[in-house]
Amino acid sequence: MTQTQLYIRPFAATESDYLALAAVLADESPEIPLSVSELKVDARHFETQGTLFERFALELGGEIVGFATLLAPFWSASSNKLNTRIAVKRMPGRQEIFAEGFAFVAERAKAYSPDALLSGGRSDDTEKMEFLEQQGFVETMRFPFKRIDLENASLDKFAEHRKRAEESGISIVPLASVKPNRPDWCRELYELENRLMGDVPLPDPYTPMEYEKFEIMANDPEASDHNWFFVAIDPHTNQYIGLTMLFPSKAKKESSFTGLTGILPDYRRRGIASALKLTSFDHARANGVRYIHTDNEENNPMGQLNREMGFRDIFSMVSHERKPAFPA
Ligand SMILES: CC(C)(COP(=O)(O)OP(=O)(O)OC[C@H]1O[C@@H](n2cnc3c(N)ncnc32)[C@H](O)[C@@H]1OP(=O)(O)O)[C@@H](O)C(=O)NCCC(=O)NCCS
Repeated sequence: MTQTQLYIRPFAATESDYLALAAVLADESPEIPLSVSELKVDARHFETQGTLFERFALELGGEIVGFATLLAPFWSASSNKLNTRIAVKRMPGRQEIFAEGFAFVAERAKAYSPDALLSGGRSDDTEKMEFLEQQGFVETMRFPFKRIDLENASLDKFAEHRKRAEESGISIVPLASVKPNRPDWCRELYELENRLMGDVPLPDPYTPMEYEKFEIMANDPEASDHNWFFVAIDPHTNQYIGLTMLFPSKAKKESSFTGLTGILPDYRRRGIASALKLTSFDHARANGVRYIHTDNEENNPMGQLNREMGFRDIFSMVSHERKPAFPA
């Protein structure tokens, strides 16, 4: 039992609540700290999407020790499932705080009559894994989280892939440089991403968001810098046929995260994804980034490609589901 009673209140979106959120998340996952500005961008995305997003602070003796969030899953907002995210800093009594935070958001979830509740955590966070199991959640998917050290990576083998892609005439360019000459760059990006996301393994089929919302997010300069987005263009059709993107960390200057990498089906196995990734690595290095992080579902060929490039597993993010949402 926790010594003092847990006080649960709505997240206030103040600087101090955001700082507390950043601290709790960094305590759970020190390798991937998020800055307040990144967390604000994240919240803005949910606001733009207009889907359910309710976050609560968990306070013990006047100090914020965790957060409980109820939200629609980003990949499938139209599914009748709700995500319950519970983050608690590593401390004595953590299991009880998980339980109270979860009970609170699960109770709120009842108003939406979901078919299932979702949750998740790191594979090496045994307290959270045990807690989810106790609550009746079962594992659905695993996403090994990997890192490459660009200073020690040996990527010579992939130069061959890049040569193959270049010889086929495919050009690889930063999105920032093509935008001025392509008035429809955003619509093209939207269509490409939707086609690729349909092939990315996710717990539920991907539901595209409306274009107007995508456009707001794609034009948010704090959310993404298009000098770090690379598109592959087929010169014969002048169409985008693939992309990769990096998100340099604002909390850890020498780190970057990877977003979606994908190639249209007709263009796969020609070295284009490898060429895109090498180009993004060159850009990262030139801008002082040494470590790049990524996560892919464990059976996705992208995971294998990343391992071959020199990415090493650190831990896995594990997705869980409880169905029915409220067992009798
Ligand atoms: C994963 C993906 C990006 C690979 O793109 P690609 O351009 O075909 O990859 P490359 O041609 O650069 O592949 C390089 C090497 O990776 C490995 N590889 C790539 N795809 C593979 C597959 N489907 N099965 C097994 N190995 C594969 C191979 O070793 C390949 O070398 P080889 O063709 O000489 O055997 C593409 O399949 C895709 O768009 N998938 C859907 C989107 C997705 O899931 N993205 C990842 C999540 S972010």
